[in-house]
Amino acid sequence: MMIAPSLLSADFANLGKEVSAITEAGADLIHFDVMDGHFVPNITFGPMILAAIRKYTALPFEAHLMISHPQKYWKQFSDSGADIIGFHIEADVKHTELVDKIHKAGRKVCIVVNPPTDIKTIEKLLPDVDIVLVMTVNPGFGGQKFISSNLKKIEWLDQQRKTKNFKFLIEVDGGINYETAPLVKRAGADIIVAGSFIFGSKNYAETIKNLRCCK
Ligand code: DX5
Ligand code: ZN
Repeated sequence: MMIAPSLLSADFANLGKEVSAITEAGADLIHFDVMDGHFVPNITFGPMILAAIRKYTALPFEAHLMISHPQKYWKQFSDSGADIIGFHIEADVKHTELVDKIHKAGRKVCIVVNPPTDIKTIEKLLPDVDIVLVMTVNPGFGGQKFISSNLKKIEWLDQQRKTKNFKFLIEVDGGINYETAPLVKRAGADIIVAGSFIFGSKNYAETIKNLRCCK
């Protein structure tokens, strides 16, 4: 199980230090939540902040773009050092075209699915994406409650890749803690994003280790 701490719950006044701390604590990748106040009802940070904190870790950065026009902005995140670009199936874009463009830039692609959205809407993208991210809260804020009806999406994805030999990883974002991590692991998840649970804990290394080993 890989652990991706979400900087949304980090101390924004000390972001560089937080990135270093989470790296030393054993994180596998850094999850960077980008919100535009339009696709979701909140605003966070953009590519300049990513570029500024990039040098504090050698770990991969994943930009989770909760924005209405990922086709206009993904390149700026790529140029700022995002190794993985995540965009939503709910965004009004030509998804296949965007997947190709991101791949041509040498970056990995993550397709994200919101809780109310049918998982089958991404079926045609499954052979081409590197990661499928299942949202287990409605995006916009950290610290929300896990919506367990999404577990069956993870099971379906795991089934699809087993039967059709797809290579994508399954990632889960929202409401992850010691109770929910084992549920998503059992359903087939490979990567868990955790924001408030890690950054709200006293000992990041301990929390990451325990999340990783949840049975
Ligand atoms: C929510 C973000 C998440 C958020 C998760 O819109 O996409 O990455 O940071 O926060 P927790 O882990 O607190 O639910
Ligand atoms: Zn996220």
